[in-house]
Amino acid sequence: MKKLVVGNWKMNPLTLIEAKKLAGDIKKGSKLMKKTEVVVCPPSIYLSPLASTASNVFFIGAQNAYYEPFGAYTGEVSFKQLLDFNVSHVIIGHSERRSLGGKAETDEAINKKVRAVAGEGATAILCIGESTRDRDGHYLEFLRGQVMSGLRDISKKTLSHIVIAYEPVWAIGGNTAMNARDVHETALFIRKILRDIFGPLSDSIRILYGGSVDDFSAPDIIAGGFVQGLLVGHESLKVKDFLKIVEEVEATK
Ligand code: PGA
Repeated sequence: MKKLVVGNWKMNPLTLIEAKKLAGDIKKGSKLMKKTEVVVCPPSIYLSPLASTASNVFFIGAQNAYYEPFGAYTGEVSFKQLLDFNVSHVIIGHSERRSLGGKAETDEAINKKVRAVAGEGATAILCIGESTRDRDGHYLEFLRGQVMSGLRDISKKTLSHIVIAYEPVWAIGGNTAMNARDVHETALFIRKILRDIFGPLSDSIRILYGGSVDDFSAPDIIAGGFVQGLLVGHESLKVKDFLKIVEEVEATK
């Protein structure tokens, strides 16, 4: 199974020229990767002009998608529509979207999005993560709940199109990632939940870590094979640093 490095550009960059340059440079720098898939997720307005850059090692993803294929949903873009633009991956339930509240990001809506995307044969990147950690371990039950509700009624046939991105909310957008040991422990916990629900077939689900990953923290986090990739936010806007992360992931056994 290939490892996965996803760049979440969030609401950046400011212009299409910059977006094209960023995507072009990342594509060039990752073309020799053999064991690692590289995905960039630009704001939806750049998906159409960047569609032609997608290849079999460099993929274009969306940061959200609506579960209904078409209809009276002002302001939404459906996954069916994204398919037309070579979008092969979709981030779903990112904490920055969940925190907006509203009906579009409830656990139920997130589950529908995961099913819609994976059902079309694209990769659904389901984001989970606790806001705080408590000593009694309540956050573990919270994570279990997010996994269970996000993957409710998922067909076993589509499991290979599911990715779980574990992003502790408190570690996002800072200077330091969560320490590697805690990432590994949490990834094992998530892996066990997946095994409990789906059995051995769930081994095709990749687990990523996200939250202030940089080229300094990436090697320890990816070591040992506990996580099968990384979801990178602000560092994915810096070509050199992002490519270093990709190379670290590629170099890990
Ligand atoms: P960050 O963002 O790397 O800037 O912390 C990660 C994410 O929110 O996906």
